[in-house]
Amino acid sequence: MDKLVLIGNGPLEGEVRISGAKNASLPCLAASILTAGTVNLSNLPWVRDIYTMCDLIRELGLEIEDNDDSVEIKGAKINSHIAPYQLVKTMRASILVLGPLLARLGRAQVSLPGGCAIGARPVDLHLKALEQMGAEIKLEHGYIDARAERLKGAHINFEKVTVTGTENIMMAATLAEGTTILDNAACEPEIVDLAEMLIAMGARIEGAGTERIVIEGVDRLHGCDHRIIPDRIETGTYVCAAAITRGRVSITNTEPRHLEAFLAAMKKAGLPMEIHPDRIEVFPHEGLRAVNITTEPHPGFPTDMQAQFIATMTQAEGTSIVSENIFENRFGHVPELKRMGADIVIDGNRALTIGPTPLSGAQVMATDLRASASLVIAGLIAAEETTIDRIYHLDRGYYNLEGKLGNLGAKIRRVKNGSDTVQRAVEELSNI
Ligand code: EPZ
Repeated sequence: MDKLVLIGNGPLEGEVRISGAKNASLPCLAASILTAGTVNLSNLPWVRDIYTMCDLIRELGLEIEDNDDSVEIKGAKINSHIAPYQLVKTMRASILVLGPLLARLGRAQVSLPGGCAIGARPVDLHLKALEQMGAEIKLEHGYIDARAERLKGAHINFEKVTVTGTENIMMAATLAEGTTILDNAACEPEIVDLAEMLIAMGARIEGAGTERIVIEGVDRLHGCDHRIIPDRIETGTYVCAAAITRGRVSITNTEPRHLEAFLAAMKKAGLPMEIHPDRIEVFPHEGLRAVNITTEPHPGFPTDMQAQFIATMTQAEGTSIVSENIFENRFGHVPELKRMGADIVIDGNRALTIGPTPLSGAQVMATDLRASASLVIAGLIAAEETTIDRIYHLDRGYYNLEGKLGNLGAKIRRVKNGSDTVQRAVEELSNI
């Protein structure tokens, strides 16, 4: 397994260009199943989860041709309704093919996604909504087996806000008979991006981005060209990296309006920034103040920024209280940050971080995608070397992280499993 080696260094300096959003790319790729036409998706980030979703779509029989940062998908030759365990077990977002398969073929067999490090992550709300739309669903041998002659529009009120649940049902409803109303729908920018793509395919959708989405079913959808929005979580991750190193970084090709709650918290912490429509300028500072945040569905503070925020708060003055309200086990990064010297106490769903606390490099282990990012952020300033193991988590959602950070002056190196040694990487980095 690859490792990342970092040596704590000075302020980051320069420009970093944000890639397309992983969490918009995944539903948009799944949406290509809805049409026999041709879909062109651009600004895709070539991270592991995107490769996995492309493999899954090929498995269903669709033709995919990938170019630089785009793909052309032809849906005419779809010939399977089965999303196999081998693929689904590596990426729970595979559940996003359930709605489109049911809508296109009237049949879907999707391996039940298991839990993951951050929580049980059931998909009961996806299934309940599809049953309300007339699907017959059986769970057996670890698979969801769903059938529906033709889904029927329904009024669905989600008991909890669910991002992929909203996306799955919105996609299913585009080809249903009649009108579907989604109440307590997720409002994330990725939902709006998916809706824009579906509308370009001929779907009739109103209200995406609000808590009530209304979809009027049509008989078929055609192909489209669609450009994926920038990744707001990658954006926030680089804001934290600039902040913790007290650097001067220009974060370009992004949409700050997708990240207002997080940016407001960083402003409250005293981070000097200039916010432009498509970029964020972060400036050097003399120290940050501790800030309290609570993770909430959009437009609240995003749970996907919680781990990176805690890493940054280890260097802020005072006690920061972070309440995690979305997932039941999303503090996997805390024990690893404490091994680097962070002073953090967990109290139920709250993490209390006391700063500023000097961090020292250590061997640490990534447990999930965003926890890995928080360890990288801490490693940027920890004294001497930090080695992060299991960075396959990181590769799922960050395109060329070590290249982008290296260009900003970070001392960071990927050590291929077995080929290099950590020591050699440390020596090379020390001599930069
Ligand atoms: C999406 O996951 C994102 N993934 C996650 O990003 C993100 O953390 C999460 O939304 C919350 O914003 C993608 O978009 C691919 P949910 P999702 O359904 O849709 C409960 C990352 O780091 N729930 O909104 O799976 C669930 O357990 C990833 O990029 C049910 O109880 O999350 C959780 O507590 C991590 N039953 C809450 O709702 C259901 O049927 C929110 O989950 C569905 C969800």
